[in-house]
Amino acid sequence: MGELRGTHVPVLLERCLELLAPALGRGGRTVHVDATLGLAGHAEAVLEAHPETVLIGLDRDTEALAHARVRLARFADRVHLEHAVYDELPDVLDRLGYPGIDGILFDLGVSSLQLDAPDRGFAYAQDAPLDMRMDQTRGVTAEEVVNTYPHPDLARVLRVYGEEKFAGRIASAILRERERGRITSSARLAELVRESIPAPARRTGGHPAKRTFQALRIEVNRELAALETALPSALDALTVGGRMVVLSYHSLEDRLTKAALADRVRSKGPVDLPVELPGSGPTFRLLSRGAELPGEAEVAANPRAASVRLRAAERLDPNATEQGRTDRERSRRRVKGMHQPGTGSG
Ligand SMILES: C[S@@+](CC[C@H](N)C(=O)[O-])C[C@H]1O[C@@H](n2cnc3c(N)ncnc32)[C@H](O)[C@@H]1O
Repeated sequence: MGELRGTHVPVLLERCLELLAPALGRGGRTVHVDATLGLAGHAEAVLEAHPETVLIGLDRDTEALAHARVRLARFADRVHLEHAVYDELPDVLDRLGYPGIDGILFDLGVSSLQLDAPDRGFAYAQDAPLDMRMDQTRGVTAEEVVNTYPHPDLARVLRVYGEEKFAGRIASAILRERERGRITSSARLAELVRESIPAPARRTGGHPAKRTFQALRIEVNRELAALETALPSALDALTVGGRMVVLSYHSLEDRLTKAALADRVRSKGPVDLPVELPGSGPTFRLLSRGAELPGEAEVAANPRAASVRLRAAERLDPNATEQGRTDRERSRRRVKGMHQPGTGSG
C-alpha cells in the first residue's frame, strides 16, 4: 500500500473545521463521526485541532479504511474505524457505546483513491472491469447493471442520476451491443457512449461518458437511498449544540440534504397560532445560508471542489427554544397591550 497522502486535498477543509469547532471544542471528550472517511484528510485535521475528540470513521471501502488506518496511526487511542455504510450509523454507535455525538461530516461521492485505481472501473479514462462498487465485498457491479437492466430502467438511471440528455440513445446502444456479447470493460462502455452521442454534443461538457459513469456509480452503490436514510439518523444522534456538515457534489445529494435540514429547522406547530406548542418548535438552526459554494482560489487549488455545495446545521437546546417561545409570547402580549386603549403604555 503506497503513501497516498499527497493525492487528495480535503475539500473546504478550513470551512469544515470552522463550522465543527464550536461543537467539538467545547471541553471534555467530544465525539466526531466522519461518515465518509476516505483517505482521512478531514479526519486527520479534526483530530489535530481537537486533542480531546474521539473520532468514529466510517467507510464502505475496505481499501480506504486501510489507508486511513495508516494515516491516523498516531491517534489510534481515540479512533474507531468501522467498515460500514453510513446508513448503519445507529448500529455502529450502539455497538461502540456512544449514545450521542457532537459532530458529523459527510463528504459525499468517490475518493481519489477509487477514481485513480486502475482496476475498479470508476474511471472512463482507464480500461478496467466494470465494477464501480465502493464496497467490493458485496452488492451488484456496474457490469451486472449494464448487461441486465431493461431499456427503461437503464435510461432512467442515466437520465436521473447522470442528468444525461441522450439517456435513451445510450441505453439503446447498450442493448444493441448486449445482443452481440456481454459488455465487460469500462473502455468499451465509454466508447459506446461516445458513439451514441451526436457529434456536436461530443465537443461540449467534458468527456461524453462522464455522466453515464457517474449515473452507474450512484446506482451500483445505492448512494441516494443510503443518504436519505443516513441524514435523519445523523441529525437524531447529535447532542444539543452538536453540528453536522454535508459536502455534496450532485444536485440530488444536495436536494436530499436541504430537505432533511428543512424538516428540522421549521416549526411543526399550526401556522395560525401566536405561540409554539410545546415540542413543535425547530430542533436545528442552519449554519449555512442556502448552499455555500467554493471560492475561486479553492477551485483553482483543488478541481474536485468545483461542484461542491456545503450545508451545515446545529442542534438547538429545547429549553432555550422554550425560553425563546416564552420571550416571544411576552413580547407579543406587550405589543398587543400597546394597541389596547387605556393601557397607558404608549
Ligand atoms: C470523497 S471521499 C472522502 C474523502 C475524505 N473526506 C478525505 O478527506 O480523505 C468519500 C468516501 O466515502 C465513502 N463512501 C461513499 N458512500 C458511502 C456510504 N454510503 N457509506 C460509507 N462510506 C461511503 C467512499 O468509499 C469514499 O472513500
